[in-house]
Amino acid sequence: MSIRSVIVGLGSYLPEKILTNTELAERVDTNDAWIVERTGIKQRHIAAEGQVTSDLATEAAKAALKDAGLTPNDIDIVLVATSTADDTMPATAVHVQHKLGMTRGAAFDFQAACSGFVYGLHMADAFLRAGSAKRILVVGAETFSRVVDWNDRGTCILFGDGAGAVVVEASEGETTRGILHSEIFSDGQYAALLGTTGGTSRTQTTGVVTMQGKEVFRHAVSKMADVVERSLKATGHTVADLDFVAAHQANARILSSVAEKLGLPAEKALVSVDMHGNTSAASIPLALAAAKAQGRLKEGQLLALPALGAGLTWGNCLLRW
Ligand code: UT7
Repeated sequence: MSIRSVIVGLGSYLPEKILTNTELAERVDTNDAWIVERTGIKQRHIAAEGQVTSDLATEAAKAALKDAGLTPNDIDIVLVATSTADDTMPATAVHVQHKLGMTRGAAFDFQAACSGFVYGLHMADAFLRAGSAKRILVVGAETFSRVVDWNDRGTCILFGDGAGAVVVEASEGETTRGILHSEIFSDGQYAALLGTTGGTSRTQTTGVVTMQGKEVFRHAVSKMADVVERSLKATGHTVADLDFVAAHQANARILSSVAEKLGLPAEKALVSVDMHGNTSAASIPLALAAAKAQGRLKEGQLLALPALGAGLTWGNCLLRW
């Protein structure tokens, strides 16, 4: 019997401290009206001093496990997507494993920037369908506030801290739920469009975020729309079959442009970027969690989860909730 990878639990976490646009305008030459008009972002959350990425990830993972009605030792693999690891090594995922009280299985990080969560679902689906695990925690967690240049108004207004997690389970019975199709891509010729000014090997520092915003915007719209179309085609669906597109939350204008390009009604493009800014690998589960809290997510709905991030990396996961 074929195996289907089904999301059986969803959780998220945002740090307590909120940084509003008006507060940001006291630091750099910007204003609430510009940020809202050009990005849709109203506020972002900032991790407390001493609160690290694995702390955020652990909270989201706990919530996902609770939602699934499972315990940490029901999990075989912890996958953490992050560009803002606690340490250069070991992996943030092993800290999450330990903080959860999990004493079995395996845990590791991977880095695909803002596409991390989709890469994680793609990997989890491959592990589960290969029979090498039964349940996998996929976590996207970031503390971008630690690598943002707080003097660069072109980037510091965009990013925030947060985490989201799902439990993905191998279902061997008859089910219409689960991951129907996923694909991941990258093209390193665009590496300079979005990145940091340093890193472990190159500068022995983290560096700060730099971005050619307009170019990234253009790639985000065309590539995210394209990967959704590819998944629909591969599975014999049309745009009209989609209940929601939960895309990487970078900019509300990108989300509406992707919807427009697909011919998707605007209300079917989930938006949570207004509440937490761009949280990179955490943004898709945060958008799903917000929709769930609003009572909009229902079993059986068809969802596309496209993302694009530094690399460039991009991808999509089409699933039935
Ligand atoms: O997560 C990975 C994916 N990331 C993204 O997808 C981000 C993609 N890019 C974007 O979201 C947008 O390009 C930005 C929001 C970053 C910038 O928006 P834009 O519409 O592309 O603005 P721009 O950079 O072309 O700047 C327009 C003007 C410039 O002024 P002049 O040269 O026209 O006088 C900027 O200096 O707006 C100015 N500006 C600002 N003004 C007030 C740039 N940033 C700000 C700011 N406040 N924060």
